[in-house]
Amino acid sequence: MKTTLLSTTCLFNEVSSIFREKGLSEAEREAELIICHAFNISRTEFYRDDLWVDESDLWALNSIVRRRLCHEPLQYLTGYTEFYGLRFRVGRGVLIPRPETEILVEEAVRLVNALGIPSPAILDLCTGSGCIATAIAKNLPSAKVVASDISVPAMGYAIDNAGLNSAGNLVFVQGDLFEPVRGKSFHLIVSNPPYVTGDDLMSLQKEVSGYEPPEALDGGRDGLDFYRRILKAAPQHLRDRGCLVLELGLGQGIAVREIAGECGLRVVKVLNDLSGIERVMVLEKLNKSSDKRLLEAI
Ligand SMILES: C[S@@+](CC[C@H](N)C(=O)[O-])C[C@H]1O[C@@H](n2cnc3c(N)ncnc32)[C@H](O)[C@@H]1O
Repeated sequence: MKTTLLSTTCLFNEVSSIFREKGLSEAEREAELIICHAFNISRTEFYRDDLWVDESDLWALNSIVRRRLCHEPLQYLTGYTEFYGLRFRVGRGVLIPRPETEILVEEAVRLVNALGIPSPAILDLCTGSGCIATAIAKNLPSAKVVASDISVPAMGYAIDNAGLNSAGNLVFVQGDLFEPVRGKSFHLIVSNPPYVTGDDLMSLQKEVSGYEPPEALDGGRDGLDFYRRILKAAPQHLRDRGCLVLELGLGQGIAVREIAGECGLRVVKVLNDLSGIERVMVLEKLNKSSDKRLLEAI
């Protein structure tokens, strides 16, 4: 039987032109990643050799291209994403880590190093894929990290990702916010909770609203439900000199500051992302006996 051979360059031109016509903003980059994934070749191989593919082997590529044209996120199609220089497995049922969340990790690592705690106990609430917990555990090898999430599928990805990145100083517990760590306290609590408002949920990109888990996004009517719950319970789970590092949604800084004040927490600083949006808030537990501002030196 006669078979037709197609070159990867020719397939790249065809896929990127379909993506361009359909308005995908990164048509070339996506086409390259999808071809490499479909034929299990590295970027180097893709650019070095024009490989020949049997037409009968195109089914995997066709299926991925079709799914992408239905707005399924690229990361779900390839099954992986990069975060803080590490590789994470992702798919339906777990939020894809976002680049701005790296600011939270960087600040948490910097804070623990600055405080000089020899074996810090760290809690990551709403861990999802485990990206924050794994990146912190890898960068603070002396830390003991606990990560929790209510979602059973997310927990599966998080456990895989800790293994994939050989993060041994990390355990996962499943349940509602602090419920799985009742009675335990930490030097540092970090979280990127669901924070999308009811109105914004209606206007998300199709890639997000159609595919990513709603429970990872929905922060209640005003987007602040999780901040209220986390900030209220945090003081009883923070040790002396304990800190909290939270990711914020667009325009939530003022409201979260107010909630923090009512909960015995002081805002130490707020970090902006590249778009100038207040993205990460660092808070400290007020020390009642001395009211000493513990992080002033940092
Ligand atoms: C915005 S995602 C963050 C995931 C991950 N930390 C990241 O930064 O990519 C929020 C996560 O909160 C989890 N979640 C939602 N409700 C929760 C609850 N009541 N208790 C614990 N986790 C919850 C979701 O399953 C989801 O994984």
